[in-house]
Amino acid sequence: MTAPRPSVVVTRRLPAPVEEQLAQEFDARLNRDDHPLSVAELQDALGTADALLPTVTDRLNGDVLSVEPLRVRIIANYGVGFNHIDVTAAKRRGLVVTNTPDVLTDDTADDAVMLMLIVARRAGEGERYVRAGRWTGWGPTHLLGTKVSGKTLGVIGMGRIGRAVARRAHHGFGMRVIFHDPFPPPADVVAELGAERRSTIEAVLREADFVSLHSPATPETRHLINAERLALMKPGAFLINTARGDIVDEATLVDALKRRIIAGAALDVFEREPQVSPDLLTMENVVLLPHLGSATQETRVAMGLRALENLKAFFAGIPPRDRVV
Ligand code: 8YV
Repeated sequence: MTAPRPSVVVTRRLPAPVEEQLAQEFDARLNRDDHPLSVAELQDALGTADALLPTVTDRLNGDVLSVEPLRVRIIANYGVGFNHIDVTAAKRRGLVVTNTPDVLTDDTADDAVMLMLIVARRAGEGERYVRAGRWTGWGPTHLLGTKVSGKTLGVIGMGRIGRAVARRAHHGFGMRVIFHDPFPPPADVVAELGAERRSTIEAVLREADFVSLHSPATPETRHLINAERLALMKPGAFLINTARGDIVDEATLVDALKRRIIAGAALDVFEREPQVSPDLLTMENVVLLPHLGSATQETRVAMGLRALENLKAFFAGIPPRDRVV
């Protein structure tokens, strides 16, 4: 008799090739109607399955993870960021936690560059204008934006995604790239990116025409961009956030935009997703996307297969490649 296959609760619908493979390899409990799981459902999963495959919409805080009895042994997160999981509590409960790095680096970097272009070139406004039937013809002073090529990009957090953004900006748009990271990449990597290190965030903010955030969301980076720091940015500068909402104090960003302290913002992530500060919805110099960083067919499949790889390794007794706890 063969041993029963480990059971995995998959908290949201995933692309079909991922669900098919999960069902082949595991006793996969899929979420057919894709409803976000309630606390009770998450706790039921933690108490009755061998593994959990959650997404950013599952808040696995200390309370949820305190469930008794706990059966799950591994949380194989679908996504690279894992600030929705209380890793200290997970560790205390003896859980292994993995994520899905690398596979979404390019898409997220593309997203940041896309946002930079949309906000600078007023593409959102232009699109709304055409769709509203307001366009009556070309005009030499109509919807003039800000030039991107050759400008200075400030990257906060020069990890995988920050580097991919720097590469695109420098080699694709001839931008000067400056960055801050408490753990900077090796000198040869920095040189290849044509980037210049700054020892403080403040120095980056003072100099950059575009500031793109790529730090992980941790207690230390919560509200990293606050009123004081926004005040250091150039009046013509733009803020781009594809990392996590809580890195920016959203209320002070709204205030800075209203007071024209900065020229605009392009946001893929929000402090209280899916809620967006209502004032942002009314501002033309703001671009808002619903957390689309990794949202391509190819990447969402790759993320699922990477989570699957972590699960397979764990249940084969091999250290999973992407263990974070
Ligand atoms: C995902 C992300 O869409 O990987 C991340 O950290 O923010 C996105 O790529 C999301 O996390 C999926 O759970």
